Amino acid sequence: MKRKVLLTLLLCSFIFTASADEGMWLPSLISSRIKDMRSKGFRLTEKDIYDINRASLKDAVVLFGRGCTGELISPEGLLLTNHHCGYGAIQALSSLEHDYLTYGFWAQSRQGELPCEGLEVSFLVRMEDVTDRIATGQSEKEIIAAACKEGKGFYAQIENMYYGNQKFLFVYRRFTDVRLVGTPPSAIGKFGGDTDNWIWPRHTGDFSVFRIYAGADNEPADYSPQNKPYRPKRHFPISTKGVKEGDFTMIYGFPGNTQEYVISDAVDYIYNISDPMKIALRTKRLDIITKAQESDPKIRIQYAAKHASIANAWKKWQGEVLGIKRLGTLEKKLRYEQEFASWAASRPEYCHLLDSMKAAYNRNRGPYYIGELYAETVMTLELPKMAAMAAAGKSVVQLHKDFNLEVDRALAKAMLAEFVRLMPEGKLPEALEVKVAQFGSTDAYIDHIYNNSLCREAATAAQCDKSDPAAEFYAIVRKEYPSQYRVRNLSNLAEIQRWYRPYLKALMEWDGKRSFYPDANLTLRVAYGSVAGYEYADGEWHVPQTTIDGIIAKDNPEIYDYNVPQRLRDIYQSKDYGRHGVMIDGRKSVPVCFLATNHTTGGNSGSPIINGRGELIGINFDRTWRSTMSDVEFDPTICRNISVDIRYVLFVIDRIGGASYLFDEMTLK
Ligand code: ARG
Ligand code: GLU
Repeated sequence: MKRKVLLTLLLCSFIFTASADEGMWLPSLISSRIKDMRSKGFRLTEKDIYDINRASLKDAVVLFGRGCTGELISPEGLLLTNHHCGYGAIQALSSLEHDYLTYGFWAQSRQGELPCEGLEVSFLVRMEDVTDRIATGQSEKEIIAAACKEGKGFYAQIENMYYGNQKFLFVYRRFTDVRLVGTPPSAIGKFGGDTDNWIWPRHTGDFSVFRIYAGADNEPADYSPQNKPYRPKRHFPISTKGVKEGDFTMIYGFPGNTQEYVISDAVDYIYNISDPMKIALRTKRLDIITKAQESDPKIRIQYAAKHASIANAWKKWQGEVLGIKRLGTLEKKLRYEQEFASWAASRPEYCHLLDSMKAAYNRNRGPYYIGELYAETVMTLELPKMAAMAAAGKSVVQLHKDFNLEVDRALAKAMLAEFVRLMPEGKLPEALEVKVAQFGSTDAYIDHIYNNSLCREAATAAQCDKSDPAAEFYAIVRKEYPSQYRVRNLSNLAEIQRWYRPYLKALMEWDGKRSFYPDANLTLRVAYGSVAGYEYADGEWHVPQTTIDGIIAKDNPEIYDYNVPQRLRDIYQSKDYGRHGVMIDGRKSVPVCFLATNHTTGGNSGSPIINGRGELIGINFDRTWRSTMSDVEFDPTICRNISVDIRYVLFVIDRIGGASYLFDEMTLK
């Protein structure tokens, strides 16, 4: 009895210390975190994470395509990533006869694996602090050129950390023969669709399987039937034991973009201006598209991908605004700056900093806002864009496949009206004002364009020239579009960004208690935390694990996003889970997704999530929408990343895909 109490106490204290962790750490500098990681359940060493002299976990992680992560899971180049990361490749391989998106695909042999044209993956060979080399006069170009010569398929980049206070060389090796091995049907890989996107509880089997091929010498080679499966230096063993609340987790991947150190002016812009504007504009676009989709199944399919991409950021921004409000980020930043200012006042090298930064924000926020307004309104319209392409001699036949004139016309009317309404005084293109005046209203001008453009139909589009009304409209708005202001964030504008280098240097001197980590910039990072639920709303606790029972509870053949594949229904009916069945809350079930506290962002999709022994327990694919302010401020009580449980991945490969032969090459623990 006493022992039991002690054990419970011990367990509780463990759960307590295994709390959330802010930070995306550079793997080569992970030694500074290793003590903390080990105290939270990590059993490996820093050399297991990153080592240039022998194989380490970094050799099992890849940058997948243009902005996802993937991981090696066999000595024969087998790779896992998300379904939504492989989506483009799977779509490109699909046709009416072979609709892999709808029905899934499983190569039944190596010969059956499908080459994906244009798909690449890159391994990090090494990273190196080159700050001093650059400071002493070596040019970045030279450093990069030398690194590229180190081996076949090598390329290199120098990336700023802490806004350039440190510069790191990243040397990568790129493989271009990547083949599709398998993917579940969308009804599993995209289960819940946009409805469940950014949402917990989640039941999406968001994974797909690829294989990297190499030349006979195991070096990168362009596609050839003679190529052999790539033999990686390292692959992840897979844990079949599962996870439970409190377990240590680590995510190894390529987070894309965060801005944790920006000053209040940047937060003010995001929170009060940019996000609200973009959310409102996208709400209008989504309303129009959704209504059209509901009226016509053809439009539903044509606009599915467009709807998904508009809705993804739209939902993210809503979470971000709520989160910033809830945390009081703006007020916190203001207070922080006040304290900083009084410290900096007596330091000539820093005392002017905040004023200079604020002045730079004041000069740039107006033009940046205009750039965002263009990008979210008139630049989104398809007919003008197609007309401009056609006038330049490019074919738009492909684009017409997913185009509906009336939907685009409705979008054009709504977006031009908003463009005019939201544009600051005197900033509308003069030529546009002339046109609107000539036709009497923005709607009438749009009707003129949409009634008369030769690009209305694929058959006549090739005759479009510069005098086409849609091409003319495009030229009018394109001419004044301030594309020089279209960088990812306001704070990334060169005139603002230059101040962050001394500012960060000053912060590191002043704020000694803070654990600094460089903002995400699509370089390899380590984040760690633990499996954990959270309080979603007052009195509403979300447990961190979902199961197949929840999939069936959502099942509805009438709703596209929740139409469970019949095969899965049958398996559920018979409860014949085979080796994949586990006891969860006293019933036999199959785990599906789980929540953890790792600090992640876009780009971490597809990242391996591993346990303390370095075994794969899942694949990261999302955050909860209430977490998304973590790109600006991380909150351990509420920020959660969402992973698909590796046990569900194995279940789907085996029972839905009939591809359990793949298990033979994996290291199942
Ligand atoms: N929210 C995830 C991310 O930011 C998943 C997006 C893809 N899924 C979707 N239903 N749209 O990329
Ligand atoms: N789905 C995101 C991606 O594609 C990850 C979600 C997030 O932003 O954390 O990278």
